[in-house]
Amino acid sequence: VEVERAPKALPACATPVMDGMKVKTNSKVAVGAQKDTLEFLLINHPLDCPICDQGGECPLQDQAVGYGGHLSRYEEKKRVVADHDIGPLIETEMTRCIHCTRCVRFGDEIAGVMEFGITGRSEHLKIDTFFGSTVDSEVSGNVIDLCPVGALTSKPYRFTARSWELIDHESISPHDCVGANISIQTLRGEVKRVLPRINEAVNECWISDRDRYSYEAAGAENRLLQPMVRGELGLTPASWEDALNAAANGLWSVIDEYDASELGALVSPTASFEEFYLVQKLMRALGSDNVDHRLRQIDFSGDDDAGLYPGTSLPIERFSDCSKILLVGSNIRKEQPLLGLRVRNAWRAGAKVAAINSMDWSLNFGLEAKTIVAPGLVPYALAQVLLLLCEMKNAEVPADISGDFLDGADEFSGHEECRKIAAMLCENTDDGVIVLGQSAISHPMFSCIEHLAHFIAEISGVALAILPPANSVAGWMAGCLPHRGANGVPVEAPGLNARQMIHNPRAAYLLFDIEPSRDISDGMHTRQAMENASFVISLQSFDDVPDYVDVVLPITSFTENAGTFINCEGRVQHTVAAVEPMGESRPGWKILRVLGNFFNLPGFDYVQAGDVFEETSAEAEDVSEPNGSSSRPVPCIQKESSVSPGYFELISDPKIYSVDATVRRAAALQSTADASPVTVGVHPDDLEALSLKNGTAIVLRHDLHSVHTQVFSDTRVARGCVYFPAGSDAGPSASIGAEVRIEQESGTV
Ligand code: SF4
Ligand code: FES
Repeated sequence: VEVERAPKALPACATPVMDGMKVKTNSKVAVGAQKDTLEFLLINHPLDCPICDQGGECPLQDQAVGYGGHLSRYEEKKRVVADHDIGPLIETEMTRCIHCTRCVRFGDEIAGVMEFGITGRSEHLKIDTFFGSTVDSEVSGNVIDLCPVGALTSKPYRFTARSWELIDHESISPHDCVGANISIQTLRGEVKRVLPRINEAVNECWISDRDRYSYEAAGAENRLLQPMVRGELGLTPASWEDALNAAANGLWSVIDEYDASELGALVSPTASFEEFYLVQKLMRALGSDNVDHRLRQIDFSGDDDAGLYPGTSLPIERFSDCSKILLVGSNIRKEQPLLGLRVRNAWRAGAKVAAINSMDWSLNFGLEAKTIVAPGLVPYALAQVLLLLCEMKNAEVPADISGDFLDGADEFSGHEECRKIAAMLCENTDDGVIVLGQSAISHPMFSCIEHLAHFIAEISGVALAILPPANSVAGWMAGCLPHRGANGVPVEAPGLNARQMIHNPRAAYLLFDIEPSRDISDGMHTRQAMENASFVISLQSFDDVPDYVDVVLPITSFTENAGTFINCEGRVQHTVAAVEPMGESRPGWKILRVLGNFFNLPGFDYVQAGDVFEETSAEAEDVSEPNGSSSRPVPCIQKESSVSPGYFELISDPKIYSVDATVRRAAALQSTADASPVTVGVHPDDLEALSLKNGTAIVLRHDLHSVHTQVFSDTRVARGCVYFPAGSDAGPSASIGAEVRIEQESGTV
């Protein structure tokens, strides 16, 4: 642009506005400068728009058409940049790069992982990865959207469609409790790519790689395409009518032979509100309250007094404004990558962040203080923070925390990191939040941790955020719980929770979109319970059917299903189906509705998913009040015993790309570093004490089961612990805090 009294044209985007400034955007000088700039930008840019993935949505094309000249005067050779493989998610065409450095700044300012950098100068300047490393952090796909040209493109999407042919479908990502707004883009009934939809209050303009690439599994070859029923010849294809009849007859015969209380339903937390609601409605109509979606939780002692749902009382968008954040049992960066970005944002603005964890996770922000201890000690470290806080604030120690329990906190008296955490929480600053993550929720003393966190939040004046997996909030609101119906209405005689259904095995199970030995906290007991059941129905999307399943009903993937998602702040968001169901698969809510008809149950006449939601939302209470309050009488008591000599405490948080059946089958995600094969990790000092070397073949033993794998030294693991993540194909894991033993393959250590 031309600025009055400036000696030459100035770049509009980099010139600060001043009072009284006169700017001309269309003068001869301005137009000439714009043309020259574009001519320079295009000197080395290839003329390959017809075969470029960015074609049709390319800002450089738009600028060239709007402000460029018609001819190029450049006759010399254009420079060419050699490409190399930067991982399974992003394909490069660096000859197209115009060196805007947006991708470099994204790593520096947003993601906190410097995956791209600049090398060389002038003609030799290029954007590259460091030492040939891959670009596959949990949010790296966002650079594809940021790159103004076709230099960084999506590897799975590459050359499969032109942008103007694609049809947009608004949807919600089902993989974590943030509820990122996504656009599923399709061509001729096939999903081609997933992009973010801007929602400043939820995901801003970002999505995680899990949100972006999980669609690949929906179109995968191993989708289950027709119903199957087990007979004398094993599992054989059946018509929908036969399969639904077999399902209804199987459940009836269990009810006849035993009792309806012998039925149990286990539902994936990725289900939609409608599916949660219909599973519990069906089970309760049949006479069983044994229904649950909290598959990794093992402590349910706080159920009766729990709030309407576990969630955050601090709106997601205000995480970035926090001045103090305490993470407890949380690897927020990998569990909820977009909330991780908000925490990083807050940290960059000066917030103090601290953690009490059992793994020293690699985070994309710095920590003011950290206490890395075995899972069994986490509640005591938290109790010590509470005691110090009470001391600093002259507050009473809550009376319902038993003296015995507080004695356990003595282990941390004089612990400098606990003192720093208490001091941080004591500061008189604005917003703050205590985050309880996945391993806090799956902890054997979850109710106690939650109770302590409530008190700490109350005394220090910060919010409490419990971040459950996927669409769990909808599971709570829809009544997919043994002790509550829809909208939190208490059930008179509560049924069995997920853990009880496994440890007091039922005669029949209805499984909704789960792989039991990977998704339920105690994989081996789960398998045993299923094998001993007389009848198992599984509604699932993929074709690897366990041999204990009697009737398998194919359900659609999230791209083919309409439904409702409620995120951790209670935000209700609806989705539409982007494509038709694959093969004979059908949306889960429709199958459950028809199953209700097969049982001749009243109230199963919905025409569309919205009808199910309307039935409950008519009486819905306020969904903005999660978590109850600290006055809930959940006593904190001393843990009965510590780990036996020779045993380790297990840390089994699932890895980012093992959280659900869909993600586990997304090809590109499964090729990233985060999906590397699962082995056992122990602290280097423990490995030395065991006289084992890195890579030694071992047997990891727990109670019923053993897993054959290798052990490696891992500095992130707390002393006395073993890290063996659940949800992988390396073998079933046990629950967090379980006692495990390491034996060398050739003999006991
Ligand atoms: S964002 Fe694209 S054009 Fe800009 S520097 Fe990075 S690769 Fe080059
Ligand atoms: S179309 Fe603009 S860089 Fe390819």
